[in-house]
Amino acid sequence: MSDLPDLAVDISGLTKTYGGQNGRPAKLALDGVTLSIPRGSFFGLLGPNGAGKSTLINILAGLVNKSSGAAKVWGHDIDASVRLARLSIGVVPQELNLDPFFTPFEMLEVQAGLYGVPKANRRTLEILAAMGLADKAHSYARTLSGGMRRRLLVAKALVHSPPVLVLDEPTAGVDIELRRNLWDYVRQLNAAGTTILLTTHYLEEAEELCDRIAIIDQGHLIACEEKPALMQRLDTKGLTLTLAQPITAIPEMLACFAPEIKEGGKLFIRYRPSATGVGRILEAVRESGLVLADLTTHEADLEDVFLALTKAARAEHHQP
Ligand SMILES: Nc1ncnc2c1ncn2[C@@H]1O[C@H](COP(=O)(O)OP(=O)(O)OP(=O)(O)O)[C@@H](O)[C@H]1O
Ligand SMILES: [Mg+2]
Repeated sequence: MSDLPDLAVDISGLTKTYGGQNGRPAKLALDGVTLSIPRGSFFGLLGPNGAGKSTLINILAGLVNKSSGAAKVWGHDIDASVRLARLSIGVVPQELNLDPFFTPFEMLEVQAGLYGVPKANRRTLEILAAMGLADKAHSYARTLSGGMRRRLLVAKALVHSPPVLVLDEPTAGVDIELRRNLWDYVRQLNAAGTTILLTTHYLEEAEELCDRIAIIDQGHLIACEEKPALMQRLDTKGLTLTLAQPITAIPEMLACFAPEIKEGGKLFIRYRPSATGVGRILEAVRESGLVLADLTTHEADLEDVFLALTKAARAEHHQP
């Protein structure tokens, strides 16, 4: 028997309106967002700038007060069980806010103290090493580069071994090698049971890492699905045909597929797998007398899906 929650995060009808004081207009940043993150998942929260991602994360972390709705972290209501909810979550904030006069070692020790982690259970050096900061353990934070500071924020979020780790744009400004190291480490944490909530504008990262993806735009949830289902939302594929003889004009028999002539006289055809089998296209190519040298197909990637869904959602809300 296990008493672990099925849902690591459970959000219902979450709404946030900022400000409106001092003559500034109020801003509806989240509009009734309902979403749940199963325990153990690697969850991607995607959306354009200003969509409400950081707002949602900061509400979970207790850094921003919600206007209405409810949220639970690891089964603990963020209002009724503030302390337990906060102990269950580690957040790597988007903003690089570090005290410049602390060293990474001191910073992690202070953080561990705040969370009541006993000295014997602290993993300060292990965490710093995992983040590639072992040799900076005793340097002032102000002497760290931007990418190192971001990794230090990741280290800080890990000191109390939270079951839910939230990463808000953790790789902005982090170089390729360290980004890879960071993802290796986060993947290990996830494999060992930590639930990960990630926001990123690097969609190829999200596509590679996440098993479940939500997209928000202008405070609205517009998709929340397992990755394979989301990737199939776009019923479109591409087919590039390399021909024995480069072509300059489109044969009449192929006109119905609206092909485009690409560099090197290749043909590119976009098609809907549910409507047109690739076999039919190839048949028409043969019948039009073209000789095929090679072909490649292209699946829609997360960027295609993201752009299509946000565009459709905006059309629905009649907003730019
Ligand atoms: N403290 C604040 N006061 C007023 N408005 C705010 C505040 N914080 C955020 N907003 C507004 O709320 C909306 C959502 O902002 P949020 O930071 O949650 O977006 P985001 O999805 O994290 O964007 P990004 O990808 O740029 O990080 C934006 O319109 C933003 O201008
Ligand atoms: Mg943000």
